[in-house]
Formats: sequence, C-alpha cells, structure tokens
Amino acid sequence: MAEIQLSLSVLLPILLLLYFLKLLWSRRHYPPGPLAFPIIGGLWRIAFEKGFDGMTAIKAAKQYGNVFTFWVGHFPLVFLSGFDAVKEGLVDHAEGFLDRGSTPFYEKVSEGKGIAFANGHAWKQQRRLGQMVLTKLGAGKRIMEDKIEDEAQQLVEIFASQKGKPFDPILFITNSVSNVTFSLMFGYRWSVEDPNFEKLIKSNEYMLSFGLTIFYVLYELFPSIMDRLPGPHKKALESTEMLLSLSKEEIRKHREQEPTQEPRDFIDYYLSEMEKEKNKNDPTSALDEENLIHSIHDIYFAGLETISTPMKWALLILANRPDVQDKIFKEIEDVVGSSNICYDDHKRLPYTHAVIHEIQRYRYPILVGAARQTTRDVHMRGYIIPKGTYIVPNLRSVLLDDEYWETPHKFNPNHFLDKDGNFVARKEFLGFSTGPRSCLGEPVARMELFIFLTRLLRVFNFQPPPGIKEFTEEPAKNLSASPQPFKVCAIPRNN
Ligand code: HEM
Repeated sequence: MAEIQLSLSVLLPILLLLYFLKLLWSRRHYPPGPLAFPIIGGLWRIAFEKGFDGMTAIKAAKQYGNVFTFWVGHFPLVFLSGFDAVKEGLVDHAEGFLDRGSTPFYEKVSEGKGIAFANGHAWKQQRRLGQMVLTKLGAGKRIMEDKIEDEAQQLVEIFASQKGKPFDPILFITNSVSNVTFSLMFGYRWSVEDPNFEKLIKSNEYMLSFGLTIFYVLYELFPSIMDRLPGPHKKALESTEMLLSLSKEEIRKHREQEPTQEPRDFIDYYLSEMEKEKNKNDPTSALDEENLIHSIHDIYFAGLETISTPMKWALLILANRPDVQDKIFKEIEDVVGSSNICYDDHKRLPYTHAVIHEIQRYRYPILVGAARQTTRDVHMRGYIIPKGTYIVPNLRSVLLDDEYWETPHKFNPNHFLDKDGNFVARKEFLGFSTGPRSCLGEPVARMELFIFLTRLLRVFNFQPPPGIKEFTEEPAKNLSASPQPFKVCAIPRNN
C-alpha cells in the first residue's frame, strides 16, 4: 500500500507537468500573454490585480504587446490593443474577424438571433434591415429628431422641478434615453414611475454587475453544469426575458391594428418587409418574428447604457469644470441665440461638439469592446490566430492610446480642436468601432448626445451639492464603467 502511495505521489506531479507542457506546446502559435495554467488559465492575473477594470487589459498590453492572448480556463481570448492593432484587425482583416464571439451565456440569451449576436446570412439580413429602418426613421423625416427633442424637453422640465436642490439624475436620464428607443420601436413612451420601466432598468443593472462576477465566468466555462445549479446566473438569464415577452406582445398588437399607409415605427417596417419576403418564397430568408423580437432587444440594450453613461459623465465632469460649461453656454448663446437647437447646429458649435466627443473618449462607456470570433485562420503580425478564436478589440485602449492622444488620461477638449478652434474629426476616435460590424446606432447616438446635452447646458449650470468641492472621476466597477452614484444641483441659468 505504501509503495502504491509513493509511486502515485511521484507519478501524479510528473503527469501534471507533462500535461502542462503539452498545453504550452499546443498553444505556441497564439500571441503571448499571462502564463496559462490548466483549468484556471490566466485568471490568476485578475485575482492578482484584485478584479478586472478598464485598465487591466491596457496594462497587460504594455507587458505582452498589442496583440496578446488571455486564457480564460481553456478559452483563448486574443486582445487587440491600441489604435494600430485594432484598426489592422477590424479593417485589414475585416472578413476574418467578422463574426460575433457569442459565448455560452450570450448564446443562451440570444439563441443566435437578432443583430448583435447573429452571424452569417441571418446577421447580414437583420443588419441591413435595421440600418434601413433607422435611416428611414431618421433621415429627411425628422421623426427621430422630433422624438429626441420631446424627450430632451421632458428631461429639462424634470431637472427644473428639482429647484436647484441636489438630486440623483441617473434614473431620469435612463428613462429619457430608454423612451427614445421605445418610441422608435413601439411608438410609445414610459413614465419614470411605470413599474415595468423600473423592472426593466433593474434587470439591466443586474446584468451589468453580473458580467463581472465569478458566476458569469463559471457559466461561460461550464454551462451544462451551471444550468443544473441555482445561483445568480439563473436570475441573470431570467432578467432578459422581460423585454423579449414585451416585444412579443407589441408585435401581436401591431399585427391586430389596421395597417397605416406609412409605417410608424420599427415594428411596422419590419413586419412589412417580412411580408414582402414571404411573397418571394425565399427559403433562406431570416426575416421572422423571433429575429424581430431579438433585434428589438439588441437595439434597446445596445443603445441604453452606451448613451446614458456618457450623459451621466457629462453632468459630473462639467460640474467639476464650470469654465467649460460657461464656454459652451456662451457659444450656444452667440451662435444659436434664442432659436431651437437642432442636430445640424453641431457644425456651428465646434467647442460644444469637441467637449461631447472628449467626454466619450475620456470616460468610455464600454469596459473593453464587443468580442468577435475569427471566421477563418487569420495571420496577423507573425501569429496564426486559428478559426473560431475569440477576439477582443480593446476600444478603450484606442481612446487612451498615448501614441495618438496628447493627454490621454486628462480631460482635454483640444483633442478635437485645431489651433483656430475648428472641430477636428479624429480617425483614432473609434468609440463606435470600425469596419462592417461597427455600431449600427452611431448616427442615432450622435444625435441623442448632442440634442440632450445642448438642451440641458443652455438651461442649467451643473454644480456639486454644497459641501462637496469636486466629484470623484474614478469609475464604478461595472461593465459600463459608469460614474459612482452622485447627486448634482441643476441651477437654472436665468436666475
Ligand atoms: C455612444 C453610444 C454608443 C456607443 C459608444 C456604441 C458602441 C458600439 C460598439 C463598440 C459596438 C460593437 C461593434 C463591433 O463589434 O465592432 C456596437 C454595436 C452595436 N450597436 Fe452601438 N453604441 C452606441 C449606441 C448605440 C445605439 C443608440 C444603438 C441603437 C439605436 C446601437 C446599436 C448597436 C447594435 C445593434 C450593435 C450590433 C451591431 C452588429 O453586431 O452588427 N448602439 N455599438
């Protein structure tokens, strides 16, 4: 017995060592990265850094290079870091990096349908249709701009009703941003007191913090085991159900209504395109109700935190900088006077436009970027990245790239201005990503941020509450790196 124990205690470490060396050998073509052990991969590094935040992957790139591999258990994630590597990946290897890297968790939520998590022919069809509808709702007809202006006006009234006292703006901002999408999708809006709105926002908040927990990682690594166990992952999966069933109900109502001559919203357009496709009898068509439901889900969530987070940051950052607020106010007064501001005015308001860009650069609302997956073996910078590998284009690292931005970690509107004060569009401003899979909602997002912020800034002066000299600009630890909870005073300018 003692002999067996002795041989086991010698054999086992040798076998483990051989297994470890075999792993290292089989991974030799991948770009370098933190040492990956069996089972845990490189996760030890996150424990060592006391969690994952917006700087973790940027620091790793400084150590391992702008193309590096991070092993999550047995999953390789290849990170692209900095403007050159991200652009090379997403533009020069656009086809090779085209697929969305859907993980077991997101596969379960999306079933590969909709826009953000679909691939291949189905993705192309949803994306083309989504783009066409957003253009129709926005271009020429002013439907979109009118809806944004209505919401911005409501937000001004809510802020005014606080009478300059400290208040938490977060729920009001989220409600307004949410309502723009709701009215484009369904044709109606929700009040901030609506219990459904509260439920939807709570489920979104839950998902944002769940994405950085160990339960999320465990689900991605061992989905079939986790499916059998209770825990926060169950709540996260259930929380996505609400919008899906709400969309289903709205589609049913739209089908029952008398058809109008002109489609009124996203659902009307999609249903009418579905009908046309049905008449063509195309067996490959992916325009169907399930895809419509998931497209609504994707557009709603893709545009919620990404817009409300820069708006929250805008109030906080500008409350810390009264001189910047005054300059914006003066520019609007001088150029627009008492007329209504419309989106086209961004061309006449270079300083304001530059500040809005700088807010998005300085405090980006996505922790790293949306994962992609290789559609074939990709040869990049001397490495072979095999087909099916997950790719993370780190867009935050592009916006903080010290080779391109003069003061990457400092708020500086001059990043977007020339010496004569004209607005400069910077190619390194890749917040909406680039290439054929870049953000579908970029024109909507640009319009929303401009109209909401100019409306607010021409009416109010934002200040920290009495007794607080300056807000912290350290982001909270969640997937959108949003500001930590804060209360602000909106002091009416006409006082
Ligand atoms: C400032 C606000 C926004 C930012 C920073 C942003 C950023 C992004 C990024 C980085 C991606 C991933 C692109 C890639 O894989 O390369 C993305 C995808 C997407 N965004 Fe946005 N987004 C914003 C607002 C919006 C809005 C308002 C909508 C909807 C109206 C929207 C809809 C989408 C959709 C549907 C996708 C998936 C595209 C696809 O997979 O083909 N986004 N966005």
